[in-house]
Amino acid sequence: MSQDRRSFLKIAAAVGVTAASAPLVQGVRAADSGVQTMRVGVVGTGRVGGTLAAVWAKAGHELMLSSRTLADDKALAAKLGANARAGTPREAAAFGDVVLISVPYHALPELGKSLADLIRGKAVIDTCNPFVSRDGDIATWARERGAGLASAELLPGARIVRAFNAIGHARMAIAHEQPGRIGMPIAGDDAQAIAVASRLIRDIGYEPVLIGGLALGKHLMPGTPLAGERTPDEIRRVAATLSESGASHDAPAPGPR
Ligand SMILES: NC(=O)c1ccc[n+]([C@@H]2O[C@H](COP(=O)([O-])OP(=O)(O)OC[C@H]3O[C@@H](n4cnc5c(N)ncnc54)[C@H](OP(=O)(O)O)[C@@H]3O)[C@@H](O)[C@H]2O)c1
Repeated sequence: MSQDRRSFLKIAAAVGVTAASAPLVQGVRAADSGVQTMRVGVVGTGRVGGTLAAVWAKAGHELMLSSRTLADDKALAAKLGANARAGTPREAAAFGDVVLISVPYHALPELGKSLADLIRGKAVIDTCNPFVSRDGDIATWARERGAGLASAELLPGARIVRAFNAIGHARMAIAHEQPGRIGMPIAGDDAQAIAVASRLIRDIGYEPVLIGGLALGKHLMPGTPLAGERTPDEIRRVAATLSESGASHDAPAPGPR
């Protein structure tokens, strides 16, 4: 058995999948199925961050919203009600048990530095996709490196889980209307962070499906075979054909999103 498969099975086991029966790609069960409030720091409150903040607040989680425009975040927090408040990106990163980073990819190098001491060792959900037309050279580098490993380099020490990357933001608000039917492909190397992210993903109606480690995060992008809405089984079938080596999926995407 390869080293990669061994560590994948270890992670799968740690989040509730028995190694004996686990195929290479397996759905992740949240470690705790009970409803438990989590504190989520949101950095980037645009289409994705704002949508996810709204559904998580509705699900009972506590949110701190942040971007470079505090006034907008205060207005959004007021709209979301008692579970949401606004702060600076550093305040949001300190607040969260888990931090959602949902900004244009070109903002990651600076955020990686300014939040370094706060996100080190913390679960970080990375929705960010590199697009050369929007993000410039950093996107070229990230696409060559693979988006998962690139984010890990830009946010050193964070326990990164790539999720919500290849699905339109508008759909994120309505997955709970069809609980369990829509799969959410995720990639990560840290069992605890994967379990935390999985809980948040389930809480808004998706079924998290771990496709593998961060090296496979490059397949979680618009324009890849995993993009769009699929059932968990469909995701498992596609994911079983993916590999860490070889071409990263640089298929021209419909445009930055
Ligand atoms: N749109 C989609 O359907 C979709 C789906 C999946 C993944 N994604 C990816 O997810 C990420 C976010 O996408 P989006 O569509 O939500 O983008 P967006 O609507 O443009 O929102 C970006 C947010 O990031 C904030 N921001 C930008 N630079 C920042 C910085 N240096 N520090 C803190 N906050 C900063 C912006 O606010 P300020 O400018 O006021 O700071 C804004 O709140 C992107 O990487 C995108 O490729 C998008």
